[in-house]
Amino acid sequence: MNEKPEKFIDENGLRLDGRRIDQIRDINIKIGVLERADGSCYLEFGNNKIMAAVYGPREVHPRHQQKATRAIVRYRYNMASFSVEDRKRPGPDRRSTEVSKVSREAFEKEIFTELYPKSAIDIFIEILQADAGTRTAAINAASLALADAGIPMRGLISSCAVGKVDDTLVLDLNKDEDNYGQADMPIAMSTDGKITLLQMDGHLTPEEFKDGLEMAQQGCRQIYELQRKALLDHYNNTQKEIIQDASTESTTEEESTEDPAILNNVPDNGDISNDNEINEDIPDKEEEEGISDENEDDIVSDETEDDTHE
Ligand code: CDP
Repeated sequence: MNEKPEKFIDENGLRLDGRRIDQIRDINIKIGVLERADGSCYLEFGNNKIMAAVYGPREVHPRHQQKATRAIVRYRYNMASFSVEDRKRPGPDRRSTEVSKVSREAFEKEIFTELYPKSAIDIFIEILQADAGTRTAAINAASLALADAGIPMRGLISSCAVGKVDDTLVLDLNKDEDNYGQADMPIAMSTDGKITLLQMDGHLTPEEFKDGLEMAQQGCRQIYELQRKALLDHYNNTQKEIIQDASTESTTEEESTEDPAILNNVPDNGDISNDNEINEDIPDKEEEEGISDENEDDIVSDETEDDTHE
């Protein structure tokens, strides 16, 4: 751990990492990075590196957790052992349970859970590298992974912290400011400005609390713009890929109709027997491979078994 710095803010009003007091750290976003998740997002917030994966709406296991009128939201925040300076013991602990609970609550009201009764929406967070503000970075990533999964929401959730160092309010604390500062207040905010998470460590006067909240809200608005842009870029690119695929397919089709063997309905080997008659004798592909409703059920229950191991 670094030593406590003598001063956090220099004579030019800049912080030790060169930021202004109301400046957030750089954010990099990649949406749709995991093939097997319904939605995913990799996000870097300063030196924090976070992976978020969303599954659902899907069946609830264990079944007694299911709600008749709405989907349940589950949030698992996990810190990798290698994500922090001193190796973290793997598995859940009090801190991760607390972070998971408050983060779940930050999303619950924003998701249209009533559209999916008796189902579950699962959010998994892996902290790959931690550098203060992991819960806020994780919420930003989770919000985008939920959007990527197509979960209907009232808006995005954006999150950042405000704190106090050298008796001054600063936005988005870095590691030293978090360790040695006088206060740390993470918040999460919906697109329409509702506060969905508010925690506080340390001490702020009522005035500082009011100003700090305003500062953090400004930070969340900036983050929202970045999240929105990342989503738009992602969907524009996906759209372009789909159009490109379609045009490649149609070119291939055009090319294939130019094949003289096909134009004349003559197989390459020169056999000129009537194709239609032959096709009648060919068993249906699904029958041949034994794909029936019964087997489809098997596939679902296999998935279900897997889920219970999570
Ligand atoms: O990460 P966040 O600020 O949301 O939560 P925190 O409990 O205030 O933790 C602040 C920082 O302490 C984390 O971001 C990590 O960098 C570090 N930490 C650590 O080094 N070892 C832990 N077991 C937990 C946190």
